Amino acid sequence: MNQLNMAVMVQFLVLLLAHSPSFSSVAEARKLRKSSIPTLTVYNYLAIKGPNSTQGFNAVQCGGPSPALPNLFGAVFCFDMPLVKKKRVDSELLGRVQGSWTTTQLTGGTIVVSETFILTNKTSLGYRGTFSALGIENIGRKTSKPITGGTDDFELATGIAVTTPLGNVTLDAFGNGVLWFKYKFVFQ
Ligand SMILES: *[C@@H]1O[C@H](CO)[C@@H](O)[C@H](O)[C@H]1NC(C)=O
Ligand SMILES: *[C@@H]1O[C@H](CO)[C@@H](O)[C@H](O)[C@H]1NC(C)=O
Ligand SMILES: *[C@@H]1O[C@H](CO)[C@@H](O)[C@H](O)[C@H]1NC(C)=O
Repeated sequence: MNQLNMAVMVQFLVLLLAHSPSFSSVAEARKLRKSSIPTLTVYNYLAIKGPNSTQGFNAVQCGGPSPALPNLFGAVFCFDMPLVKKKRVDSELLGRVQGSWTTTQLTGGTIVVSETFILTNKTSLGYRGTFSALGIENIGRKTSKPITGGTDDFELATGIAVTTPLGNVTLDAFGNGVLWFKYKFVFQ
């Protein structure tokens, strides 16, 4: 191989490496994201539809055995809850969390939650996109779920979503069972 051919070959290899597609872009996205998303904290309130309620709820039983089983085993609830900046209903709306939970433990006490956090509007949070979490939640106790991925600012996100119930369930004016939660998202 003469010198000219060698130079062409080297150039070709350099080009090939530079354009090897997913490797560099995935690695770059991961590196970018790692340095950019801090831990985010939001609040949400759960309002489970009471038997006679016609309004004010954001969660409803959407499936399960009939008649119901002890500890609500097998019951599925669907929800669409607001995420707000402070623990107040009139606080800045940051987004929503939509998904479902299933009462999967025969003896009660835990649920399996699958949920997507939707932060599509420009808010004081400063980040836009969606990310999802999946896992067990211990009823009435602080619990972490893995964050399994996301879109836009949260592309390739991993981490944990830590949920803390704040207080006990109370009944609102419509007969819905309401409870506030704090969510902390810790990104890797
Ligand atoms: C719902 O309404 C029915 C019929 O009026 C009543 O018997 C029942 O006690 C009510 N349940 C609750 C939780 O208010
Ligand atoms: C985005 O903002 C619009 C207008 O204020 C609102 O109707 C919508 O619910 C918001 N979406 C989310 C996911 O917060
Ligand atoms: C919730 O209720 C339990 C049992 O009634 C009580 O011991 C506990 O202090 C309550 N927690 C809060 C935060 O109000």
